[in-house]
Parts: sequence; C-alpha cells; structure tokens
Amino acid sequence: MDKSINPGKLAIKVLDDLATMSEAAIKTFISIAHESIEKKGQCNVALSGGKTPVDFYQKISQIKNDLAWNKIPIFLVDERYVPKNHKESNYKLIKENLCDHLSIGTQLFHSVPVEETSPHTAAENYEKEIKEFFMLKEGELPRFDLMILGIGEDGHTASLFPGDAGLLEKKHLAISVLNKMADKKDRITLTLPVINNAECIMFLANGIQKAEAVKRVLEDKDPTFPATLVQPTNGKLIFLIDQAAASLLMKHFL
Ligand code: 6PG
Repeated sequence: MDKSINPGKLAIKVLDDLATMSEAAIKTFISIAHESIEKKGQCNVALSGGKTPVDFYQKISQIKNDLAWNKIPIFLVDERYVPKNHKESNYKLIKENLCDHLSIGTQLFHSVPVEETSPHTAAENYEKEIKEFFMLKEGELPRFDLMILGIGEDGHTASLFPGDAGLLEKKHLAISVLNKMADKKDRITLTLPVINNAECIMFLANGIQKAEAVKRVLEDKDPTFPATLVQPTNGKLIFLIDQAAASLLMKHFL
C-alpha cells in the first residue's frame, strides 16, 4: 500500500513496512539531492540517529552512481555527549552504516565536537561550525536542503523533549540538553528555528509503538509533543510511516 495526501506542504505516505519505507526515503533523498546539486552545486543534509533510519542508511550507502556523495555534506541533527566510539553515538551510527561505505573525505561529515569539555561548549562549537559552513551573518539561519528526523514514543524529535526549555530557544542554532536521570546521556541538538528553516524535512516512523505519537502529532496536532512543533516556515514536510505506525490515524485522514 502506498497512499499519499498532500494538503499544502505536508505529504504523508503510508508504506507496507520498514523496507518499503526505506525505499521511499531513498527515492526522496535522491530527487532532493539531484535538484539541489543542479541548482547550487551541493545538497546539505542533516541526519538523525535512532534505530529507524539504519536500514535506510545501509541501503542508500550502496547507491554510488546515482548520488554525487562528494557534493552532499552531512551534519548531525543531534548527538549524545559521549565519546565518538560509544555505542550510543550518532556519529558512530552514521559513520558505520553510511559514511564508511562511501568514498568521501571526512571533511564532508560534520560531527558534533563531543571532545569539548562540556555539552554546552560542544553545542557552541557545533553552532560555530554551522555558521562558518553556511557563511551566516548575525541572526541568519542555515537552510538545510534535507533534514531527516525520527519521533520518540513521547513525541520527542531530534533531542527536543516534551516540556524542555530548549523548545523555546530562538537565538541559538545548537544547544545542549542536560539530562537529570543518571542513566540518560546529555545531548546536543539543532534547535527548532534551524529545523523549521529546512527546505525539506522527512520524518521516518515505523512500528506499532509509534502509532500513538504519530496520531498525536499528525491528527491531534498536540503541541506538547515536540514533533508537532516541526512546521517548516518555507519548506516541505514529509512523513514516511509504515502501516503499523499509521494504524491509529482515522481512515478519512489518509
Ligand atoms: C536519536 C534521535 C532521536 C530519534 C528518536 C526515534 O539520536 O536518538 O535523534 O530523536 O530519532 O528517538 O528513535 P528510533 O528511531 O530509535 O525510534
């Protein structure tokens, strides 16, 4: 099954399973990359961690001829404040599942500088790197061509969690998110203004455990769910979800 609706800038595609969802994500990625590279010589992407996009990263890493990877600089949407070889590092996840399979220079992979002395300094320096790369003047936002986001069962996206002060951040491009629970890691994340300034945002969600969050975001538009606050100011918003994740959406909604 592949259904889509498109009221304005939102497109929702329901796919059979994770594999077909990854295939659809690859198609979108390729078409955006071609368009951006043709227009301005490169396609700047920001990628998320989590389990959902791993299949997509592994599959797209095999596409060599149809993608000019040397013209696709990669940034991280968010990162845990852990060493780069830590099992929870998004750098490690994206490096091992995608970048290691491409013949691109490491200068194209812009990771979060977790070697800094604190999550706050890491966020400051990541912001500095983004400002330099996009040659931003004071107060300007970067415009990523494509941003890939996931959604948590609690509605978090990137490292923006329900109730966090970071959701109100207006000035910074990247911030640190300190975790009070000992078993959870501090994080660094791009902020909502940066996310919402992207040309295209693609959410990936699969599995029944995501069904409630998908409904609360897409149908109820629940503002306490951070993913609901992802609303590109002048860009496209695409949800690629599998049937299980779409199972609580009202039939008429699709
Ligand atoms: C991370 C992400 C986070 C993720 C969601 C969904 O690095 O963990 O940035 O926002 O996308 O938690 O994660 P899953 O794909 O594992 O469900």
